[in-house]
Formats: sequence, structure tokens, C-alpha cells
Amino acid sequence: MDDLETAVRANAAFEQSAFRTSMVSSLDDAVGVLKKSEPDLLVLTGALQETTAAELLGVARDNSVSTLGLVEATAGDPRGVAHRLGLTAWMVKPVDPGEVVAAARRLIERRRLQERTGIIGESPPIQEVLVKIEQMAPVTSTVLIEGESGTGKELVAQAMHQLSPRRGQAFIAVNCSALPETLLESELFGHEKGSFTGAAERRLGRFELADGGTLFLDEVGDMPGATQVKLLRVLETRSFFRVGGTAPIRVDVRVIAATNRPLKEAVALGQFRDDLFYRLNVLSIYLPPLRERRSDIPLLIKRFVRALTKEHGRAFPGLSPEAMQMLVDAHWPGNVRQLRNLIESMVVLAPGREIRPSDIPNDVRDAGTRLLPMRVQGATPEVHGHELEFIFHSLVELKLQMEDLRRRIEETPQRVEVIDVSRPQEYADVVSGTAVDEAGSVRRDGRVVDDLAVVYKPGMKMSEVERAAIAAALKETGGNRRRAAERLGIGERTLYRKIKEYGLD
Ligand SMILES: Nc1ncnc2c1ncn2[C@@H]1O[C@H](COP(=O)(O)OP(=O)(O)OP(=O)(O)O)[C@@H](O)[C@H]1O
Ligand SMILES: [Mg+2]
Repeated sequence: MDDLETAVRANAAFEQSAFRTSMVSSLDDAVGVLKKSEPDLLVLTGALQETTAAELLGVARDNSVSTLGLVEATAGDPRGVAHRLGLTAWMVKPVDPGEVVAAARRLIERRRLQERTGIIGESPPIQEVLVKIEQMAPVTSTVLIEGESGTGKELVAQAMHQLSPRRGQAFIAVNCSALPETLLESELFGHEKGSFTGAAERRLGRFELADGGTLFLDEVGDMPGATQVKLLRVLETRSFFRVGGTAPIRVDVRVIAATNRPLKEAVALGQFRDDLFYRLNVLSIYLPPLRERRSDIPLLIKRFVRALTKEHGRAFPGLSPEAMQMLVDAHWPGNVRQLRNLIESMVVLAPGREIRPSDIPNDVRDAGTRLLPMRVQGATPEVHGHELEFIFHSLVELKLQMEDLRRRIEETPQRVEVIDVSRPQEYADVVSGTAVDEAGSVRRDGRVVDDLAVVYKPGMKMSEVERAAIAAALKETGGNRRRAAERLGIGERTLYRKIKEYGLD
């Protein structure tokens, strides 16, 4: 390429380190080498901004060849350049040839790791995931893998196990959302004979079966609360009891947990214990959805086509460029799993000619042209049972708060109808045949007929009217404070306070 000096020095360093190399300086030669000798790595230096470089990088990516770009220091943001070009890795010039060889070695090792684990992808997010797998595999710390459904969480967990010193031991997976609480506990911790109806034999739990190996707790966010407590205890003490058992059992298990809804959200909603969250999240890996790493789609398609045509013994006529573009642009809510399933159906049902856009199912096609994402980020496609429950509880809570608010409003001083009885006779005329005596009692024909009537007399304070009203209400209800409060339209606690205040007790 243009930067011959760097190329020559790097090439010499590679040869010294016993690598087989080809140094080429034209696009055609480079494509020829890529296709013929299937190299492990393509190192680029020179005019990376030019279209020939982009073209070459596209060919490399689609042939699963890793790429290392040596970027000019003047190029501005090298990370941005690397990202835009889809480089697997990059270094800023001037570079030390020895460092180029070291970087190349790491990339080739990563490629071997991909071959071993089946994790396909050249996009920076996938490369970062691979680096994390390499770093996290040797230790026993708990790992939390987060990512939408079908993004490869289980694949990553298996890769980590395969790369760890535990590879010769068991890798055991448990789906925490598939079982009700009691069954899940017996599944995880085992049970003693007769510990519950149907427990005819002693049964070893997954923790015991995974001793020395790795336990993969899938959909850990759906684990019932009581089981969460038990899991936390195992992680802290490394020991547990079988259901119905009394002897503690010690195990050496590495736990990898996965969830397809953000666990932090579940913690905020009160559905997941925060102490367990921190215990699981010692190390974490996030798998981005496929639509955030679209550059991997052609490569994934190519690999799936290769594997599935072999598996089903079928020939596949390929995809038209328009059809390929449609798949690259699609929304892929089911991520890599959905893509793989689609390719499988295409391989099996291949129409005997190239796949055209019209062969692509509507749900995949429409999703790509959707202008606004239909789902709130981080939300799962369906409302799960526990989310419905949360909404229900929120509504109940809201209703209680409204009632409380209404009660408080009612407790504030009521509108009082003041009847001016300064001229008792007039009042008496209204209530025919009655008169109001000095004490405020209503008399008819000289007898107190209604000692429950509370009457305002000139000079009375509001508090006196209130006291009289409370006394009357208590009298009416035979001293039943709850009912008196109801009659008066105030809260019971307010009534208690006022009874004390007015010395009515
Ligand atoms: N990067 C990848 N390269 C190759 N295959 C992949 C990749 N990611 C996922 N797959 C494939 O997609 C399918 C789904 O992957 P996996 O079961 O690991 O997803 P998941 O995140 O556990 O999904 P879920 O949350 O629904 O359980 C599998 O067939 C897996 O092999
Ligand atoms: Mg899974």
C-alpha cells in the first residue's frame, strides 16, 4: 500500500517471528490473497480513507479475516476511523513493528477462540465481548451476562467455561423462569427422600452436579424471591442444604448468570434483591442487540448458510444484493437466533434460484422499515406476569393514596351553615312549634325534644360549635367514636384529637 516503509518493517518483523506473510499493494492482489490463502489476519497501512480500503475490508470481513489497521496520527479520531471502516483492531502510527506483531498475535488467538466457541462477529462490540471472555475465563468470580433474547448469552457462557480451567468438568444450565419456586429449589439444591410429596428418592441438585464446573443460571431475573435469598447464601458461604436436608453441602462452582431484561431495572422495581444483584454482577458482559452491530450480519449469514447447507445436505443459490441489504437493515427483535432460524428456513425451502426481497417474510421486512422503535429500550417484547403484577400493585397503591388524600381534604374544616338565631323566635318559626333555650337545646312545648340539635348562638366560637357537634354525634352513636367520626365526615384520628382537646373523654 501507500505506506511502504511501515509495511516493509512490519513484514520483516512478522517473518522474523515465523509468520507466513504476503505483502501486496493493490486491491486485486489483496482480494486474491484473501480468497486463495485464507489468512488469519490482514494488516493495512496507508490510505485507509480511500474506497479501495473500504472495499478490501468488506471482503476481509465477509471471509472472516480479522483486520488490523495502522492509522495515521493525523486522521483525527482513530477510534472513529476504525469504527467506520469496521476494523477489528487499530494502532496509531508511528508503530513499533514488534508491537504490531504482538497485536497480531492477540488477534489471531482471538480468532482461534472464535473458531473454538462458534462466536461469530468482527464488529467492535463482539470483539470487546471476546476480550472480556479471555479475561474472565480463568477466574472463579461470578459473571452476569445481559442482553436481549437471542444475542448469544448461553453461547458466551459456554465459551467462558470452555476457556476456563474447569473445561474438563460439567457445564450445567438451569432456566430459572421455567419452574415454580419449590421445584426450582429442589432443582438447584436437590432434595432428600420424603422431603415433600413425590420426593420418592434423594435427588442431587444442579449445584452438586456442577461441582468443580460451571453453573449457568439462565433468566436469573425471574427467580422467585425466596430462592434469591437461598442463592445469595450459597454464593456467600459456598454451601447449602438439600431441600429437607440438615447437613450443609460444600461445593466449588462457578456461577454465570444471564438475563434478557436489565437486572438493575428489576432491582428498582423491587423484583430482584439488590444484594444478590451486586453478588452476581462482580463481572459483567453486555451483549448488544444485532441491530447495533449490523456489520456482522453478512458474515453471520454466510456462516449460517455454510453450516446449514451442510447439515441439511442442500444447495443454496444465494441471496440477491437487495435481499442481503434487506436483512442487514431489518430490526431483528429476536437477534441472532431469529436470523439463524430465517436462514435455516431459506436453506430448507430454497426456491431453486437466488433469494429475492419478495422471498423474505413480512415480519422481517416490515421491521426494517419501521421509523420509530415500537418498544421502549430495555423492555421485553411482551408484558410478563410479574410486570402485570407490578402494574396492578402500582394501581392499588395509587388508589390507596387517592383515598387518603380525599380523607385529608374532608378533614379540613367543613363548610358550616350558620343559622343566625339571634332572634330565636324566627328560628322557632322555621321549626314550627319549637324554641331554643339558653343551653342551645331545642325545646318544643317547653320540653327538650332534640338535644342532638346543635345550634349557634351569638357570641359562640367555632370551637364551641364544633365541641357541641362532636358531643352530639357521640351521644347519637352511643359513644362509638368510629361511627361518630363517620357522621361528622372526619377521620377517626382527628376525632380522637378533638375529643381530647375539648375534654369530652
Ligand atoms: N455471535 C454469534 N455467533 C454465532 N452464533 C450465535 C451468536 N450469537 C448467538 N448465536 C446463535 O443464536 C442462537 C441463540 O443464542 P443463545 O441461545 O446463546 O441466546 P440467548 O441470549 O441465550 O437467548 P435467550 O435469552 O432467548 O435465552 C444460538 O443458536 C446461538 O448459537
Ligand atoms: Mg439463553
